[in-house]
Amino acid sequence: MPAVLTPVKTREDLLFEDSLRPQKFEDFIGQKNIKTNLRIFIQAARKRNEHLDHVLLYGPPGLGKTSLAYLISKELGVGIKPTSGPVIEKAGDLSAILTSLQDKEVLFIDEIHRLHPSLEELLYSAMEDFSLDVIIGQGPGARSHKLKIKRFTLVGATTRAGKITAPLRSRFGIVHRLDYYQTEELKKIILRSAYILGVKVDEGGAEEIARRARGTPRIANRLLRRVRDFAEVKSDGKISASLARQALDQMEVDLLGLDEVDRKILMTIMENFNGGPVGINTIAAAIDEERETIESIYEPYLMRLGFLERTLRGRKLTSKAYDHLGFKSPANQKKLF
Ligand SMILES: Nc1ncnc2c1ncn2[C@@H]1O[C@H](COP(=O)(O)OP(=O)(O)O)[C@@H](O)[C@H]1O
Ligand SMILES: [Mg+2]
Repeated sequence: MPAVLTPVKTREDLLFEDSLRPQKFEDFIGQKNIKTNLRIFIQAARKRNEHLDHVLLYGPPGLGKTSLAYLISKELGVGIKPTSGPVIEKAGDLSAILTSLQDKEVLFIDEIHRLHPSLEELLYSAMEDFSLDVIIGQGPGARSHKLKIKRFTLVGATTRAGKITAPLRSRFGIVHRLDYYQTEELKKIILRSAYILGVKVDEGGAEEIARRARGTPRIANRLLRRVRDFAEVKSDGKISASLARQALDQMEVDLLGLDEVDRKILMTIMENFNGGPVGINTIAAAIDEERETIESIYEPYLMRLGFLERTLRGRKLTSKAYDHLGFKSPANQKKLF
């Protein structure tokens, strides 16, 4: 996949994300419902001088889960300890993190669906009773001891809500799904980022970039940087609509932000499987991509565009997808004869 459209963080994104990350709730554009709810819960917790209930944030990469976790801690006026599912290897690691938490602090576990299953039990008692069962001693003399820890807020983030076990999910009091952003919202994000980075972009330029950013702030910010490079080299550094269009066409970012892999998925279903339905494993094998990647990155966006439908028997192309690819859908063909 051309890196310019991947919603997954690249090395270059890392350099910029700290400076572009919203510092206040007001800077966090869109996701109105989530923001309103979180702010009420946070205010209520502060008023009662209690910890905030545990929060689970899920949705495709690059939509603002990590940013929200940091904003939650900020708005609560407490510290945040960030970690991620795959880096916590043993019970000892998790216990060490949990016992180090200060009163009402936020523990942020990114990619929580990748937490080792054997550690979930430990997390349950921490989340529920703010205690850990520790074994003291060895062999027949070993005793189990309940160790109290500080009250804290777990903020879990995941791109794969379906991979979270029911018992873990049920322990989160606040659960929010982040959705793809509207062009208008992405435009605001781009204008804000341009201001921070000192890039000159007009409304039309911002809109052109926003439309091709796959509904994803991380991609919008990345396209802005790439178009800026183009503007600095090929022009006077200012990003107008026509300059943005030229630059994005040059990078082969299509009008809807589709890339080669998206097109491969659509074309394969159309040409090899008659438009579907076809199972996800079959698609993955046919285009030589991981099923996980297709399910977490490509499929959600294609479904959001209304190009792909999920049925009991597998994935199906819609007539909208045929239109975009420039072919007649089988449904329309029948009508012709
Ligand atoms: N709602 C938003 N408003 C402004 N910028 C955002 C928003 N959501 C995400 N971003 C930008 O996109 C980048 C990626 O967001 P991040 O929180 O890391 O996404 P995720 O954790 O869901 O992958 C952030 O650095 C930030 O600059
Ligand atoms: Mg993240």
